Amino acid sequence: MEFNHNHPLKNLNTFGIYANAENFANFNSIEELKRLLENAKQPLMILGGGSNILLTQNIKGSILKNEIFGIDIIEEDNKSVAVKVGGGVVWHDFVSWSIERNLGGLENLSLIPGSVGAAPMQNIGAYGSEIKSVFKQLEAVNIESKELKIFENKDCQFGYRTSIFKTQLKNKYVICSVTFRLNKYPEFNTSYGAIEDELRDMGEITSLKSISQAVINIRSRKLPDPNIIGNSGSFFKNPTISNIEFQSLKKDFPLIVGYPNGDNETKVAAGWLIEQAGWKGFRDGDAGVHKNQALVLVNYGNAKGKDILNLSKKIQDSVEQKFGIQLIPEVNIL
Ligand code: EPU
Repeated sequence: MEFNHNHPLKNLNTFGIYANAENFANFNSIEELKRLLENAKQPLMILGGGSNILLTQNIKGSILKNEIFGIDIIEEDNKSVAVKVGGGVVWHDFVSWSIERNLGGLENLSLIPGSVGAAPMQNIGAYGSEIKSVFKQLEAVNIESKELKIFENKDCQFGYRTSIFKTQLKNKYVICSVTFRLNKYPEFNTSYGAIEDELRDMGEITSLKSISQAVINIRSRKLPDPNIIGNSGSFFKNPTISNIEFQSLKKDFPLIVGYPNGDNETKVAAGWLIEQAGWKGFRDGDAGVHKNQALVLVNYGNAKGKDILNLSKKIQDSVEQKFGIQLIPEVNIL
């Protein structure tokens, strides 16, 4: 339960950036977390899978890494099961666990990097699904009072890549475990066109297993494997603009990609904007833009966090100049 000093973080962030933590410790129970919180030097940072951060400097204060494991069915009825999962469990390991047991709800979220404890923070989503639709509740410890609190679905204020833990309660709670409600008789969600195309190419009937495999195939083709090329998935959020703005952009850029978001807004594909601004496949030293998905910035080896950050700023400037749209990072920049 000791803190390590100047702990290397290169293997603990999927961008593969060199940086150290002034103090670092793991916790594998709520009790251990509470004890560490008593002794931790501020500021405090909680680390999950390190798949949504860009380290631009050594981290002062303390980093605590969630290593609470375990996947347990805690309730079951005719239609569904409630499964309590330790925050330290690797997200895709949990998805695989659910597919093996024929429990539905997570199949579209296959192969998303990161940990279960981090998943609610930004309401992870892909291929038309988000965790908010299978989320039941979570247990979190208040960093100040050390009290354990249960957050139900509505308490979390889930939105597109956001929750109360990124807004009002930022840095106030440590998520320890998450409980999901999974379906025994799932309805499949293949509305995201790429999934149907992939299932057809695979020549498989629609099932939890085949949808999960289709998502794995699509992601593996488009997104770089962080074990091979450092990255944190989408670097920016897809920006939302008014329908009026979108229609006026469409006059100048007839192929612009956007999806309705409510009645008055359109969510624009940032990957398209970045590609059109000429950045797809760009490389400067070891910092670059992925060749198959322009929304993903990559570290080819020894890029520094600042190199990636500088590149991201250049991309923001050029997209703003060309389209008048501001890109907001999705990754947490530290
Ligand atoms: N596009 C381009 N060029 C590119 C990339 C994309 O023109 O370089 C166009 C595509 O042709 C497509 C559209 O943009 O028409 C959307 O692309 P894609 O389906 O790859 O999805 P995305 O909007 O770029 C979002 C999520 C991903 C998630 C996918 C699939 C965000 C910020 N990103 O990306 O999530 O996997 O949808 O659902 O919402 C992540 O958050 O790290 C992540 C990878």
